[in-house]
Amino acid sequence: MPVVAVVGGQWGDEGKGKVIDLLAGTADMVIRAHGGDNAGHTVINPLGEFVLHLVPAGIFNPAATCIIAPGVVVNPVSLLKEMDALEARGVATTGLQVSDRAHMVMPYHLVLERVQESLRGKGAIGTTGRGIGPAYVDKAARVGIQIGELLDPDSFKRRVHVAAESANRFLRSVEHEPEIDGDQIVREYLQIAERLGPYVADVSGRVADAVDRNARILLEGAQATLLDIDHGTYPYVTSSACTVAGLLQGAGIPPRALTRSIGIYKAYTTRVGSGAMPSELRDETGAYLREHAHEFGATTGRARRVGWFDGVLARYTARVNGFDQIALTRLDILDEMDSINVCVGYEVHGQRVDRLPSNHAMHDECQPVLEELPGWRESICDIADFAELPDEAARYVRRIEQLVGAPADIIGVGPARTQTIHRGDLWGRPD
Ligand code: GDP
Ligand code: IMO
Ligand code: MG
Repeated sequence: MPVVAVVGGQWGDEGKGKVIDLLAGTADMVIRAHGGDNAGHTVINPLGEFVLHLVPAGIFNPAATCIIAPGVVVNPVSLLKEMDALEARGVATTGLQVSDRAHMVMPYHLVLERVQESLRGKGAIGTTGRGIGPAYVDKAARVGIQIGELLDPDSFKRRVHVAAESANRFLRSVEHEPEIDGDQIVREYLQIAERLGPYVADVSGRVADAVDRNARILLEGAQATLLDIDHGTYPYVTSSACTVAGLLQGAGIPPRALTRSIGIYKAYTTRVGSGAMPSELRDETGAYLREHAHEFGATTGRARRVGWFDGVLARYTARVNGFDQIALTRLDILDEMDSINVCVGYEVHGQRVDRLPSNHAMHDECQPVLEELPGWRESICDIADFAELPDEAARYVRRIEQLVGAPADIIGVGPARTQTIHRGDLWGRPD
């Protein structure tokens, strides 16, 4: 029963969309299990270039069932928009199913997040502004509204009015902030329900059946381990569990069904939003990489912070997840560098440490210990075979494998599906 989890090993935007699209061609089911439309997964395949936020990146394989699982928080407005945009470009969304247990991101979540971020001032998290945090807060407080509740209009109406009144009690204390109009939300969401209704179902039986019949199931991670609510760089994290374990929980797949987990790592590091980033490049090398690699967010368009590959954090995330293998993406971005650094440790007040302190107040104190490796100074974007890589590029990959502690069986040498070096069997060991 091949159940493969694909999880970000850094701070997101590692290229999960590309890897999922690659694997999904032979998958029976692709599941988004957590997070929401804060994700932006880019896919470039023969159908064109797409950025997906909620729809699983398996949607391009008409034979695969795509599931949005209970662990996801769904903004139904953006989901419909995304589905319409896909349909308009000839990608059928009929294979999509949304769990009736998935919670909804409501309009007041977006307002609350905007106000809360501005009240945080300098301590702002730098969220994507999609209302993800407040939606998970309501879920944990057991006042969230599940998407299945759209199908019972009277009860939905009552629940929205209670939530709107609670949001308004807070908003009345904020200057110039208009109140939430519960009636308008009810009207808008019930209209959406008419269109989304056919896609909403109790997916648990379908997922369990797929596990039982040994279907090929792909779990599509969003965000990444360093943004995980428990294991990430708290409080500068997202509000969901982004690890392999989190994906199993969000999807409702028993841990013993997992056959393989793949960590996705960029050949260097990026981060969007606030929080520590010890290997960050604040100089012209960073500016060069950002421009050359076009490191601007797929969801918000914000400039991504850029740094050297951080081997300390990469090893940490590989161990938290138990990655069997890694996909190393964007190796081609380093093509023109004379030399490339990797971070192999930190110095904190003159003391060498080999892990990120768990106290976030100390993160800014971590100075990277860098190891310099030679660059290859030639284009690798057409290389399909590991043996054809320049020696320096192969050496760089091997050093990263050593630091992470897992083999790089997938290596990205360009954004297109075809620009990939494969070194292992995609689906891993069958049981
Ligand atoms: P995700 O959120 O993890 O799916 O990643 P994003 O889509 O936000 O950002 C990754 C970016 O890198 C996208 O623009 C991809 O098209 C691109 N990409 C993925 N793999 C490669 C690669 O191996 N080389 C290059 N040059 N670009 C890549
Ligand atoms: P994908 O799936 C990169 C970051 C935000 C912010 C923090 C909290 O495309 O890799 P949130 O809106 O989730 O409350 O923001 O998390 N963040 C991401 N960064 N890629 C993502 O998703 C992200 N999703 C959230 O920038 O720092
Ligand atoms: Mg992204």
